[in-house]
Amino acid sequence: MKILLATGNHGKVKEIKEFYNEFEIYALNEILEPFEIVEDGKTFKENALIKARAVFEKLKEKNLQDEFVVLSDDSGISVEAIDWRPGIFSARYSGENATDATNRAKVISELNSLNLSQSKAFYTACIAVVSKFGEFSAHGFMHGKVINEERGEHGFGYDFMFIPDGFSQTIGELPIEIKLKISHRTKGLTIAKHILDILSRIISQKIWKIWKKFY
Ligand code: IMP
Repeated sequence: MKILLATGNHGKVKEIKEFYNEFEIYALNEILEPFEIVEDGKTFKENALIKARAVFEKLKEKNLQDEFVVLSDDSGISVEAIDWRPGIFSARYSGENATDATNRAKVISELNSLNLSQSKAFYTACIAVVSKFGEFSAHGFMHGKVINEERGEHGFGYDFMFIPDGFSQTIGELPIEIKLKISHRTKGLTIAKHILDILSRIISQKIWKIWKKFY
């Protein structure tokens, strides 16, 4: 079964490809021309579904809907000291031209202005799957704390300032394999894998050839 990822985020693509190494995974730009998706949902789940549906619609336009299922990830970090922001606004926290670096700098400066060197925080990921057989979603979380400095070079986004519960190093400092075991994304992908396994079985079985007429 072919899975098309509804994301251009290299960090996410890398982690999803590593985790689902038994599936045939394609990044968005390998199959479709770039197009804009307005993520105006109020929750991670709404935004994950908006992205996966938009990509699935594009596949339909190209008559590729039988070939792929679409998988999206909407994720972000919520920090207690700043009223659990940025949450769903994690990617654009420091404005229109935000980068991961400017977003981290904004959180660090907010912690500093509160005279805090750290705060409880957690990551959320919602994984959505959209296919001819329906829409599905699953959440995963990773709890820990953010600190007012950046350490390490592994990962992306807020990883260099996030220390997961049970560890004393940031995700940036920890071996990559650790994040792949404990992350919000991994937890969401673990649940979604059950859905993908079922979809894969349906698609490869004779029953699909009979159902196909009715879709
Ligand atoms: P999205 O692409 O709209 O879901 O935005 C996700 C944003 O949340 C990214 O740009 C990162 O800033 C942040 N984020 C999500 N997951 C992670 C992660 O695993 N590590 C670090 N930052 C993450």
